[in-house]
Amino acid sequence: MNVLVTGGTGNLGRAVVKRLRAVDIEPRVLSRRQGPGLITGDLRSGAGLAEALDGIDTVLHLATGYRNDLDITRALLDAARARAGAAPRIVYISIVGVDAIPLGYYRGKLAAERAIEGSGLPFALLRATQFHTLIEQIFHTQRALPVLLAPPFSAQPIAAGEVAERLVELVHTGATGRAADIGGPEVRTAAEFGRLYQEAHSGRRTVRTLSIPGATVRAFRAGHNLVPGTPYGRQTFAEFLAAR
Ligand SMILES: NC(=O)c1ccc[n+]([C@@H]2O[C@H](COP(=O)([O-])OP(=O)(O)OC[C@H]3O[C@@H](n4cnc5c(N)ncnc54)[C@H](OP(=O)(O)O)[C@@H]3O)[C@@H](O)[C@H]2O)c1
Repeated sequence: MNVLVTGGTGNLGRAVVKRLRAVDIEPRVLSRRQGPGLITGDLRSGAGLAEALDGIDTVLHLATGYRNDLDITRALLDAARARAGAAPRIVYISIVGVDAIPLGYYRGKLAAERAIEGSGLPFALLRATQFHTLIEQIFHTQRALPVLLAPPFSAQPIAAGEVAERLVELVHTGATGRAADIGGPEVRTAAEFGRLYQEAHSGRRTVRTLSIPGATVRAFRAGHNLVPGTPYGRQTFAEFLAAR
């Protein structure tokens, strides 16, 4: 199987590449940079995409530009459709709640999902909750503050490695359409995750829950970022921190 990974140099992408190699698939990794094992290309300009897609059966599309996910996804779809021969299958990673939480980034992800669904290309689509690394980052960026500030809602973070595991399963099974959403093993308030972060870093700061008005926070508070039912992920946030 010939697989191209966009975003293969990123946090999730590195885990996906590792997992593909573990099942004897040596993927092509698209990056704007040059380096060993990388194929250089840019999803914004379209440069290098024809070469990157040559002979590829499946594209794991994980790249994110944060502000331009629709544009970079369209560039990928255009290049895939323009290619001679059978069209490659697109496996796309999105985020739980993109259709219900009015965050700019999420709107871009939703528009990218719709572009893929309407592209005429075979596709699989997986929505996952926030990664442990993102929750950690939120607290890590506050390391100079006298208190730790937490947003006023709950989260269900998941290990990026477990999302990678599911994506590689989708590559193998050839499943089409939107797969069941996946999330981590526990739902806790952001303040509770903050306290776990403090414990892991032997911190003594108070964790304070922010009061933030607005439709985006209301949608998070309503739980649109969570996956009800049996969780997919196994590694808890505390276990993730302990393994760092
Ligand atoms: N973080 C979360 O909590 C979370 C939760 C659910 C879903 N997701 C989704 O998972 C995916 C991966 O997220 P991540 O946090 O692992 O990302 P990340 O670490 O920020 O990596 C972003 C990747 O996108 C690539 N990229 C950006 N612009 C590009 C362009 N113009 N052309 C080619 N490549 C480009 C970068 O490659 P180079 O810099 O090498 O060019 C890099 O590999 C995203 O689609 C995100 O929406 C994330």
